[in-house]
Amino acid sequence: MHARITGTGSYLPTLALTNDDLVSRGVDTSDEWIVERTGIRSRHIADDGQMASDLAVEASLKALAAAGISAEKIDLIILATSTPDYIFPSTACLLQSKLGISGAAAFDVQAVCSGFVYALTVAEKFIRSGSHHCALVVGTEVFSRILDWNDRGTCVLFGDGAGAVILEASDELGILASALHADGSHHGILEVPGNVCGGKVVGEPFVKMDGPAVFKFAVKVLADVAREVLDRAGMEAAALDWLIPHQANIRIIQSTAKKLGLSMDKVITTVDRHGNTSAASIPLALDVAVRDGRIKRGDTLMLEGVGGGFTWGAVILKF
Ligand code: UT7
Repeated sequence: MHARITGTGSYLPTLALTNDDLVSRGVDTSDEWIVERTGIRSRHIADDGQMASDLAVEASLKALAAAGISAEKIDLIILATSTPDYIFPSTACLLQSKLGISGAAAFDVQAVCSGFVYALTVAEKFIRSGSHHCALVVGTEVFSRILDWNDRGTCVLFGDGAGAVILEASDELGILASALHADGSHHGILEVPGNVCGGKVVGEPFVKMDGPAVFKFAVKVLADVAREVLDRAGMEAAALDWLIPHQANIRIIQSTAKKLGLSMDKVITTVDRHGNTSAASIPLALDVAVRDGRIKRGDTLMLEGVGGGFTWGAVILKF
């Protein structure tokens, strides 16, 4: 029994802010600096009333339509987010309610920008065990809610969005190999060090990041985990049709591609248009490339992510 992606979907909020829009809104930066250091030109920002579950439901409905199934068939919902609607219940449960279904197991995964790779890997294990047959796996973020717009080192980098896949039990090949890792000792280089206590926010509810330290860490572990998962699948990088990396910085993506000996023609990039949408970035990029016809049935894909925690991981699959 294999676990195979049978449909993809994504959603971006309507409002798109260019780098120049940020400058005109008072951020002390420039289009030139952001493009040169990150490759980002624009990002989408959710409306005040839009929650992570609202973005997720739009992406999920498109994934369901692409798979040609109704929501009632889903028996497992795993949702990755760092910007949940509430402290509880989970955003997965809120998504389930918005889809008008009940009964399926539903829970959130918190692995920040690696969240989708974590969620997909967990879903695969449920399906391979035979306990579940049809999973909805989602990455959704309203990251703009946790940005300090006075911190130019972080606020220019992130955006909002959601991506979803349907992962079904199948006789055909699907996920071939996966690898997940974490090292909590590095939590301090990327974190939102706040919580709610006694009705008040304690600590800081905004993203804090040591950009150069994160950059260095990301470049190393992404190359390492890519090689690890290739080994597990018994493959060479040259056998990959597409690399779909977490979309944080074009320089990190180029470095990973170079270390794997892959030309950038084989790498899906959306960071220029989406910015870093954290857990949503990989399924968003996947859906974009499926819908524009680049990714086809039977292609071999590597998905890989790195994020706060620190967490990192990769999945190789036959699409
Ligand atoms: O999902 C994982 C999450 N995050 C990442 O993957 C991010 C990883 N890190 C990065 O992408 C890069 O480190 C950044 C894009 C965040 C920063 O690029 P950098 O080349 O590492 O720059 P830096 O932090 O070393 O800062 C260089 C200069 C500093 O000025 P001084 O001290 O040299 O005068 C910063 O103050 O750039 C300045 N700077 C800016 N200038 C204009 C920092 N942010 C900005 C900005 N606009 N937005």
